[in-house]
Amino acid sequence: MPAHIINGKEIVADIREQLKVEIDRLADKGIRPGLAVVLVGDDAASAVYVRSKAKACEQVGIHSEVYRLPAETSQEELLGLIAKLNADSNINGILVQLPLPKHINEDAVIDAISIDKDVDGFHPISVGNLVIGKPSFLPCTPAGVIEIIRRTGVSMVGKRAVVIGRSNIVGKPMSLLLLREHATVTVCHSRTPDMAALCREADILVVAIGKAKFVNRSFVKPGAVVIDVGINRLEDGKLAGDVDFDDVVDVAGHITPVPGVVGPMTITMLLRNTVEAAKQAHGVREA
Ligand code: GUN
Repeated sequence: MPAHIINGKEIVADIREQLKVEIDRLADKGIRPGLAVVLVGDDAASAVYVRSKAKACEQVGIHSEVYRLPAETSQEELLGLIAKLNADSNINGILVQLPLPKHINEDAVIDAISIDKDVDGFHPISVGNLVIGKPSFLPCTPAGVIEIIRRTGVSMVGKRAVVIGRSNIVGKPMSLLLLREHATVTVCHSRTPDMAALCREADILVVAIGKAKFVNRSFVKPGAVVIDVGINRLEDGKLAGDVDFDDVVDVAGHITPVPGVVGPMTITMLLRNTVEAAKQAHGVREA
């Protein structure tokens, strides 16, 4: 039987609708959540992501400011902007789009973002809190994946989950969030031998390796939940995920198409984190 194809539009619309209600209630208290997005240089994909983030803010009623800085911006200039945004009470969340140009030290920039405004969840303190299970802003892509899995109705408790990829943005936090949901988690990466055999044990398979159509049906246990975080541009200009969708769709139980699910969910989690940051800044428990 072909897999249930996860409907990103439906999930995203549902969560954004809930967020709008919350934002309206905050407006009644005179509070408007604000997000600053900083883009350095002219990476085409990053420019598209930044535009999508600003548009999503506008749709739900979050104030957004986009700072587009030239590629030759110095680290000091960027740190100066972050210091200004840290001190700006209209801004509750700060996101510096990665990757940054090579002459800028990404760690120094992430470290400079106020922990209260770290809506990307990349600050070392946020990461540490995630590791030890304390409240923190969760990185948006893995948080979105958890929400997607929840909405399949498949319980994560006691399930075998395999994550392909060990990046700081996706693979590592993904494994921690699955562990928090009581899954038994394995992380595979470029040095893992016989990856397909390991993946075939997975009830939940999350793929974030950045290689088009890397995962075929030989990696997939019948009925598994398969979440594709990848987005790759093929030579013919089309987009493809890290999973060979057509090959896997009649083996998996639930599968995400690319594009349309994980990308919009990532942005939705950014909106959610920004609303949460605004509530915390104003001491609001429930909006
Ligand atoms: N580049 C790719 N994904 C992300 C993300 O989630 N946040 C930021 N800041 N940069 C990214």
